Amino acid sequence: MIAIRKADEADLEPLLTLYPDAFPDEDLTALVRDLFQAPEGEVLSLVATIGDQIVGHVAFTLCNVDDRPRTAAMLAPLAVASAMQRRGIGKALIAEGMRLVKAEKIEQVLVLGDPKYYSQSGFSAEQAIAPPYPLPLEWAGAWQSIKLIETAQNPAGPLRLPVYWMKPALWAP
Ligand SMILES: CC(C)(COP(=O)(O)OP(=O)(O)OC[C@H]1O[C@@H](n2cnc3c(N)ncnc32)[C@H](O)[C@@H]1OP(=O)(O)O)[C@@H](O)C(=O)NCCC(=O)NCCS
Repeated sequence: MIAIRKADEADLEPLLTLYPDAFPDEDLTALVRDLFQAPEGEVLSLVATIGDQIVGHVAFTLCNVDDRPRTAAMLAPLAVASAMQRRGIGKALIAEGMRLVKAEKIEQVLVLGDPKYYSQSGFSAEQAIAPPYPLPLEWAGAWQSIKLIETAQNPAGPLRLPVYWMKPALWAP
């Protein structure tokens, strides 16, 4: 039975094994460590478990659009153990994370990823909110968002993220 819960400190170690398994070509372990060390309340980190085994992880970093209050969240990274992919775990992590951040009055979630995948969870191309670094042309459609709470005005401007996200390598192929 798959369960989803908030991550705790003891989950970091198994995640440092899960990430290289899910992303053999990319090292996200430094980012995952940073996310675990973020100030209280800044990052929502969820794990998917089967028994006491961790099979998936997602993080949502709360952030601002330009000088607006903190009403946005950045979804990343998302990983599911290679042996457990394509069973709905990724989508379940996304759905549970969005439910929890919406309860915290987060109005919009941003993501940089495959539109074929994220459109299945309701994301679509984002043009008004700019990522922190210019994206390569071939990634233009990969910058997406979903509105969780309707607002009178659509927020526009640069996305302002905590310092551990401000690394160009995280935004380039
Ligand atoms: C991408 C990822 C998070 C998806 O999680 P998941 O639990 O495997 O996916 P879900 O079961 O929620 O969704 C399945 C659907 O997603 C798409 N999908 C997922 N993985 C795919 C893959 N490797 N190739 C093609 N489509 C894929 C398909 O549409 C699939 O539906 P289908 O099986 O009916 O064709 C997971 O496969 C993963 O960790 N991959 C490696 C890391 C990565 O690329 N992360 C990107 C997010 S930053």
